[in-house]
Amino acid sequence: MTTPRKLHIKSYGCQMNVYDAQRMVDTLAPEGFVETASAEDADLVILNTCHIREKASEKVYSELGRLRTAKDEAARNGREMRIAVAGCVAQAEGSEIIRRAPVVDVVVGPQSYHHLPQLLAKAKIDGRAIETEFPIEDKFAALPDPKPAVIRARGISSFVTVQEGCDKFCTFCVVPYTRGMEVSRPVARIIDDVKRLADNGVREITLIGQNVNAFHGEGDDGKPWSLGKLLYRLADIRGIVRLRYSTSHPRDVDDALIEAHRDIPAVMPFVHLPVQSGSDRILEAMNRKHTAADYARTVERFRKVREDIAFSSDFIVGFPGETEEDFLATLALVRQIGYAGAYSFKYSPRPGTPAADMRETVTTGLDKTAVMDERLARLQDLIDSQQAAFNKAAIGKTVDVLFERAARNPGQIVGRTAYLQPAHVVASPDIIGQVLPVTIDSLERYSLIGKLAGHTPIAASRSQPAMTTGA
Ligand code: 5AD
Ligand code: SF4
Repeated sequence: MTTPRKLHIKSYGCQMNVYDAQRMVDTLAPEGFVETASAEDADLVILNTCHIREKASEKVYSELGRLRTAKDEAARNGREMRIAVAGCVAQAEGSEIIRRAPVVDVVVGPQSYHHLPQLLAKAKIDGRAIETEFPIEDKFAALPDPKPAVIRARGISSFVTVQEGCDKFCTFCVVPYTRGMEVSRPVARIIDDVKRLADNGVREITLIGQNVNAFHGEGDDGKPWSLGKLLYRLADIRGIVRLRYSTSHPRDVDDALIEAHRDIPAVMPFVHLPVQSGSDRILEAMNRKHTAADYARTVERFRKVREDIAFSSDFIVGFPGETEEDFLATLALVRQIGYAGAYSFKYSPRPGTPAADMRETVTTGLDKTAVMDERLARLQDLIDSQQAAFNKAAIGKTVDVLFERAARNPGQIVGRTAYLQPAHVVASPDIIGQVLPVTIDSLERYSLIGKLAGHTPIAASRSQPAMTTGA
């Protein structure tokens, strides 16, 4: 028997990359690779990269600098270390990566992970291998299962890709260029994945896609199904108690999705709905194809069918031409909606996107950085205060928690509320995988601390969970 080879994957960026990393692990397992936590003793290191903002992109090159030392050290010890760059930087920069960082053996774009074994073999012969082509258009349907390679269940909660790519072409965004045009997976394949995961102990599924509510996968009736229709079908699968989806575009919220929230208890009342800006002028320059009022109306449609629904969002500050007045419109929209949390970013020009060529109309140079920092701080303060108020409002309430794993503190089990807040209780590991009511006593930073409703806590000593998802 050959000794297993060690694989280390470092993922940056979005949930899709986390999922893709798991797929790469599962694709390479039959080749004898097992995961290791340290890059230094790995035989293969994969950097699964993100290109969304310049900072994310540049991280790759500093990491490759560190890996060069590790690779040299391995070579001195007579061991070969291979280095692969995957993800969106691989897609966007291709062979430029090998030119800039000769330490890299393989460059592989997000549509080609199923070819990793062949690419590694090619690199062994040719010294390097690159694959960043987008396959034929309907990659999910026409190819012999290129993408799904259904991932192994890894605990209670799992991602399932339902679509990939985006046709929206927001002017700041690289996704349509790195992940390609929007493609949906056929419903039957998604159902198979979810059934298999449920049979292996998964209780919560998050459907993921760059523009998940543009989903239009082919159903068993031969017609395209909407995300709402898919949610109804998945809710019937035995063992699945919670359904989520991310990330949605406000323009693609249809009645079926709203009805799914109204009718299906398993569909969690927490929606990530990025708006990016509250200024109509900026929204137009961003090519978002909706106004701030359209967005607020969409939020109201959800709230009308589920009053306990909460929202999170993404914001960009300092988009080209953003004035103080535009920025104040963003703050006003945040106040109007009231978020449970949100991510905010400084605008980062991305090569090849239309916004990268837009002329600044207000601030330039150093001044601009200072203005952006200041706006980001103001926006984050407002979002933080909304998030803190949202979390505080849980104290004293009894809320449903899906328990996932043993917590770091011995005897404690941690799970998540409907709003993804971590919640800790002292309890037996037997509760892992169950949804139970918890009375929340206090808040420690972002974690809720409570007691199982109607239970007296057991001694805080049993620490081995029945099933774990890692740290
Ligand atoms: N600059 C800053 N933030 C960006 N995002 C996408 N592209 C850029 C960019 N060029 C943000 C958006 C998006 C999130 C995933 O990243 O807010 O919703
Ligand atoms: Fe990028 Fe989202 Fe806009 Fe698509 S909808 S281009 S992924 S920001």
